[in-house]
Formats: sequence, C-alpha cells, structure tokens
Amino acid sequence: MSKTTAEIRCAFLDFFAARGHQKVSSSSLVPANDPTLLFTNAGMNQFKDVFLGTESRSYDKATSSQRCVRAGGKHNDLENVGYTARHHTFFEMLGNFSFGDYFKTEAIQYAWDFLTTELGLPKDKLLVTIYHEDDEAFDIWANKIGLPEDRIIRISTSDNFWSMGDTGPCGPCSEIFYDHGEHIWGGPPGSPEEDGDRFIEIWNLVFMQFNRQSDGTMQPLPKPSIDTGMGLERISAILQNVHSNYEIDIFQNLIEATATVVGTTDKQDKSLRVIADHIRSCSFLICDGIIPSNEGRGYVLRRIIRRAVRHGNKLGASEVFFYRLVEALVTQMGDAYPELAANRELIEKVLRTEEEQFSRTLERGMSILNDALNELTSNVVPGELVFKLYDTYGFPADLTNDVAREKELSIDEEGFQAAMAAQRKRAQQASQFDTDYNEQLKSNSTSEFTGYDQVTNQAEIVELFANGQQVEKLSAGEEGVIVLDKSPFYAESGGQIGDTGVLKTTSGSFEVRDTVKLGNAIAHKGKADADFKLGDVVQAEFDVARREAIKLNHSATHLMHAALKQVLGEHVNQKGSLVSADRFRFDFSHFEAVTNVELQSVETLVNQQIRANHSLQTKLMNLDEAKDAGAMALFGEKYAEDVRVVTMGDFSMELCGGTHVNRTGDIGLFKIVSESGIAAGVRRIEAVTGGKALDVVQSQSQQLSQMASLLKTDPQGLFIRIEHVLEQNKIVEKELEKLKQQLASNATTDVLSEVYEIKGVKVLSTVLQGIEAKALRTMVDDFKNQLASAIIVLGIAEENKVSLIVGVTKDLVSKVKAGELVNFVAQQVGGKGGGRPDMAQAGGSQPQNLDSAIASVQAWLEEKL
Ligand code: ALA
Repeated sequence: MSKTTAEIRCAFLDFFAARGHQKVSSSSLVPANDPTLLFTNAGMNQFKDVFLGTESRSYDKATSSQRCVRAGGKHNDLENVGYTARHHTFFEMLGNFSFGDYFKTEAIQYAWDFLTTELGLPKDKLLVTIYHEDDEAFDIWANKIGLPEDRIIRISTSDNFWSMGDTGPCGPCSEIFYDHGEHIWGGPPGSPEEDGDRFIEIWNLVFMQFNRQSDGTMQPLPKPSIDTGMGLERISAILQNVHSNYEIDIFQNLIEATATVVGTTDKQDKSLRVIADHIRSCSFLICDGIIPSNEGRGYVLRRIIRRAVRHGNKLGASEVFFYRLVEALVTQMGDAYPELAANRELIEKVLRTEEEQFSRTLERGMSILNDALNELTSNVVPGELVFKLYDTYGFPADLTNDVAREKELSIDEEGFQAAMAAQRKRAQQASQFDTDYNEQLKSNSTSEFTGYDQVTNQAEIVELFANGQQVEKLSAGEEGVIVLDKSPFYAESGGQIGDTGVLKTTSGSFEVRDTVKLGNAIAHKGKADADFKLGDVVQAEFDVARREAIKLNHSATHLMHAALKQVLGEHVNQKGSLVSADRFRFDFSHFEAVTNVELQSVETLVNQQIRANHSLQTKLMNLDEAKDAGAMALFGEKYAEDVRVVTMGDFSMELCGGTHVNRTGDIGLFKIVSESGIAAGVRRIEAVTGGKALDVVQSQSQQLSQMASLLKTDPQGLFIRIEHVLEQNKIVEKELEKLKQQLASNATTDVLSEVYEIKGVKVLSTVLQGIEAKALRTMVDDFKNQLASAIIVLGIAEENKVSLIVGVTKDLVSKVKAGELVNFVAQQVGGKGGGRPDMAQAGGSQPQNLDSAIASVQAWLEEKL
C-alpha cells in the first residue's frame, strides 16, 4: 500500500523533528512581514527576518509544511492550471530550515537520507543539479553521498541561484530530480529536452548566504543558512506511482467529489482538475481572511472563483456548486490545517455568494463570447470584446483567455489594455468638476443662502468679476460674475447643479446662467443688459420651474440610493452624482451590470416610497450624532461639524445640503432610463421623475403602438407577432444556409478540378467566389480529406479585405509549413498571418492583388518542394 499524501507530510515533519528541528505551523497565505509579496509562495517566507538576522527565535532549526499560492503575482501559474500535470494555484511546500546551525553537508545528507532511506526511492532514479561554481556542493554529492559524477549537473543560470524576490535572502541551490522513466518524453536538466516531463524537480536545497540589495549587490548574511522546499504533491505522485499530480489521493478524492456535485461521469475532463485545484486555493485564501473584491488579493481570489464556476458550468452544473466542495476539502486537509475546518462556514458562505452573483451574468456573457468566437476570422480575440465581457459581465481577462485557449485562440492583450485605459480616462473626466473657472476667481465674501424657503430676495452686490479679474462694474452687454451678500440661488454642490434666473435693478437685468460657490460666496454667472456696480441693490429671483424639477430629481436620488442598497446589497456606495432639471445620474460601486429584474425592483421600491408620500424632514445635527443615527455619508468626503440631515420616512436618511421636495409624493413618478458601466466596479444609472418620467413612458408607449401597427397588430399582440416573425426568419435562414451549402459543394467540385501537381505533390491554389470567410476552415478540412495528401491555398476577396487560408496535410508539413506559406501570400496583399504548421490563416487589405498573389504560390512551391 503506498503512502497517502497526509502520511508523507507527517513522515517529513517527523523525520526532521527527530533531528532536532522545531515543527512550525504553516503561516497565513497573506505574508505578515512583507508588503511586496502578494501571497506566501515558499516555506521560507515566514522566516525571512530570521535569515536576515533581524529576528531571533527560540530554535535554530525548523521544519514546516507551508501552504503556498502562486497566482496573480510575480509567480503566476493560474493560466496553466488544467493544461499541465504539475501546475497549481495552491500547493504545499515541505521544508527544513537551518538558521546558522548546519549548512551544505548536513542539508544534502538529510535530503538524501529522507528520500532513499525513509521513503525508499531507488537511488538510480535520482540526479541533481548544482550552481556551476559550487565545487563544494559537487564534492559533497560526489564523495560523501557517492552519486556518480554524470548525475551531478552544473547549471550556470539563475535556475540554480534562488532568491525570494528582487531583494532579500538568496543563495546558490542544488535541486534534486526524479526520473519518471524512458516511456515519458524529456531530457535531464540543462539538455535541450529539459522541458519534457521525464525528469521532474522534486526538492530544492538553497544554501542561503546573501541578502540581495536593491542595487543588486550581495551582502553576506550574518550566518550561512539552509532553506529547502519540496512540493508535497510531486513527491506524493512519485510514491503513489502516478505521473500527474492530479492522480494523487487528495486530488482524486476532490475530483470525485466535484464530479458528483456537478453530475458528470467523465472523470478525465480537464475542467474537473481545474475545479479541484481552485477549491484548494479559494478555500485557503478565504480561510486566511481574503474576500472577493475588485482589487489586489481580493481580485485574484475573485478571478480564481469565477474561473472555477465557468468550468463547472461547462461540465453542466445546473446549480450553485462550488461551495459544496468545501466539505470534501475539509475531509482531505482539515487534520493538517485545523484552521480550514474552523472556518468552513465562512468559506462556504463567501464562495456561495460570489458564485450566485456571477452566475447571473455568466450565461449571458458566455453566449456573447461564443457567438463572437464563431464569427471570428482570425486567431485573435479582439481586446474590445474582452473588455466588454469584463466590464458588463464580470469576466476577468484571464477567464476569457481560458475560453479562447480551449479553442486555440489568443487574446489581444494590447487592445484590452487600451480599452481599460480609455475607460479610466472617461471615469476621470466624469468626476472632474468645472474647476478651471472657479480656480481663477477668489472671493473673500460670505453669502447667506436663503433659497431653502425663499424664491426671491433683495440683496447687495458685494463683488464683481469680468474676464477673470475683480472689477468695480459690469457694463451693459458684458458677461461676468456677480456675488451677493445673500441669495436664494443654489450654487452647484453635492451633485445638484446651480440655479438659473435673473438679478434685477430698476435699470435692467442680469441673466443668471449658472450659480457656483467661490469659497463661502454665492457667485452668479451670466450676462448684464445694463450697468451693474458694487453696492447696487438687486432683486434676486431664480427660475422656479427649473428648481422644482431639480428638487424632484434630488429627492429621487436619495430614494434610489437607499433602494439600490436594499436590492443589490450594502456594498453599494455613491461614487458621484449629477442632479439637473431634465434627469439625474447616479454613480455607485457595484461589480457587474445591474440586471433588468433588479432595475425593476429598484423602480418599484422608489415608486412605493413616492406613493407613501412621506413628509420630508431636514435637521441640522452634529456630524457624529448624524452618523450614529445612521445617516448615509459619502466615504472620503469632508463634512463640517454641523451637518444637514435629510430624512424621508424610515426609508432614507442622508447628509445633504441640497434642495428637496416637501413630500415624496411631489415626485409623482420615477423611471430609470439607462444603466451602464463607467469604470471597473462603478455603474451609472440615469433616471427621470415627474413630468419627464411621464414623457418617457408616453413616448415608449407610442413607439410600441408604431411598431405594432408596422407589424399589423396591437401592442398586446406584439410579442406573439414578433415571435412569429423571428420564427419565419429562422426558417428562411435555414433555407438560405442549405442553398449556400449546396452552392459551396458545387463550388467544391469545380474547385477540385483545379488541383495540379508539383513534383508529385498535389496542390490546390485558387481564389474562391461567393464563399464566406468563416467557411474557409471547414473547406480546407474537406479538401484535405478528399485529397488525402495536398497543399491547399485558398483566398477570398471581399470589399476591402482579403482572407487567406493555407492547409498542409500532416505528411507534408516537414516540407512546407502552412504559416510560412500563408505569410508569403499575405505579404503581397498587405497583411500577415500565422498558425499551426498544418493550418494557418491571414488577412490582407489589397483585394486587387489577390489573383497575382495566389498565382505566385506555384513558383514558390516549385522551389521549396
Ligand atoms: N525557497 C526555495 C524554493 O521555493 C526552497 O524553491
């Protein structure tokens, strides 16, 4: 009976404990003493300061089994999980450490004894590498251990000089490799075939000697030390006589549990491996206090969860499944990591919530992605699409990449980054106020705001500005700014736009187009039709109808803010708002697109509160008092000591200086008109109220009537009618598709008559007519099948573009590479391309040169063949 993974872990720790090493528990995945490190990625992380000599412990020899995550940061294996036998996001590293106690000789001796005596591995299956200059290590392996010299390989690269990061403890190392046998392809380390799977590194012994400084210099450590790391999963695979880590007991049990939970019987499916890997990293990350979020560690966690959910979906999971694997994981690893069992409930809850949130948009996003991939004419997924999926459906780019990779496509990373940058810029612009103007003008006056309850009042002009300068007088026809000692005009702030209106004297009027704050002053911007000078008394009167409309929108903003929290969750926080007379917009934190159902719930809730007709209360309160009472304040906003608190029933309580309705019923009707994303994790809703809301509803209903009459029915019958039309359409499309296929097959027969031979090799190089680019791949496959051995070059000219494809049957790829040939042709039509040796595609921009480019194939091949 071979050892279980748990037994191997114990055997290792016991072996070193028996040799005077302190057993130390694994540290958290969040490194405690290193802000530069995203996740703990090696056993030595928790001992970093001990190596450096800045921390001392009661022991100078230690052993541990350390949980590690290599995802997201500098060491990132996320994208390889599922594609190789040995990559994981989470793994366990067994290690023994000496802090100035023993050094090379003992470290090597211990490792050798553990592997060959304790575990009983055959000596002739082991070989080692050393740093090329390390004669001492060579001597120990050759003379003390007796390893034949041809199995001690000198390596001159950084592979054998280990360092924790760009700075910190480091030193030369010696790695022990296991030979999985001739039946597996691969060569020993240092050989051209080293990337094969035959020789696998199992244990790294690092002879810690230096502290690398940020300028690259190496400072000797206080005492030479030892740090080793052995992948538990790898050594278990060897001892359990399997080749892939995913075949060891822990993984087999997790894969079994996953298959049961998602309801699949095909145990070989790679998605099962991905999920089995991801449940380990996700559970331990949550156990160590990380929760899914939009940045840093939380975002890495979110990406891994979403990747797992997508693979579950692919396997056919019909309901939320991922959290249900925590139980199996606790059974497998709970003994070794009691913290995992202790946090089981929390882990399940976090995973469940995240999956539920994501599931809502996963299906829709996948269908958009699949449609787009089917339409694709090249091997690259456009960055814009990757961005849209990220922004609207919460698909992290590496998830889209994962899907693309399954179809042998890559993603346009540059295009994606450009779309992200453009979005950041939009968000910045959206949050920039009209500061330029205000910055130019400085006012020392203080104006009293009377506009909460007055529409008009008399006031004195205390300051005037024209062309950015303080002036004594504005002349008739001049534009400028007037500051009054008191004003009913609301100056733009807190998202509510400034009032418009008029300042009148006996001789004329000043048309106010906007009102802003200059410090504590209320500044009226506009144009004079008579002279206005310092000390003049004016009658100030704002546009009441406009202000009424603004009030409805402002009060509705508060109601919607509270409703969003109820519908989407407490994480919703205001990120910005603009309240105008026509409509209002409200930006808030939320990771994914708000669904139609959610938007409807928000509308319903707000309208209920409107009908409840709460009388609106405003109260001046001390800031702390207000916060204690539960008033919503904007995070990061600075408030004065005394604040104004606006309350509507028991539904909404917010700090706000704006102007509001007397009763919520005044709002009349509330209607959302749009929802969109403006930055990562920030959504925007635009909505209308009162008469405007009625306008929107009426115009929508009018559109319905028009559509209905176009389809010769009434609005009630529209749905059935459209369904019917779509149904017809499908039938017609199918019919069309059939005809096209017929045409294509006629064309195929015609085209096959154009096959010629060059030195006994069948060649088909031709320009096709009436064929769509997306049919090219299938056509090449068909031709390959029909011709059995051939080189096929097909081109299509469309309006402004060219599509090319080259297929080479497998028996001929040693003579001609499809990628090379397609590039040769593509260059002549203004493009380039690439692909596999047996199939490559390209595009081009010069259809006028296609005929001659295809004609040139013959001469090119005559030379090659
Ligand atoms: N710290 C060494 C490694 O991670 C042992 O390979």
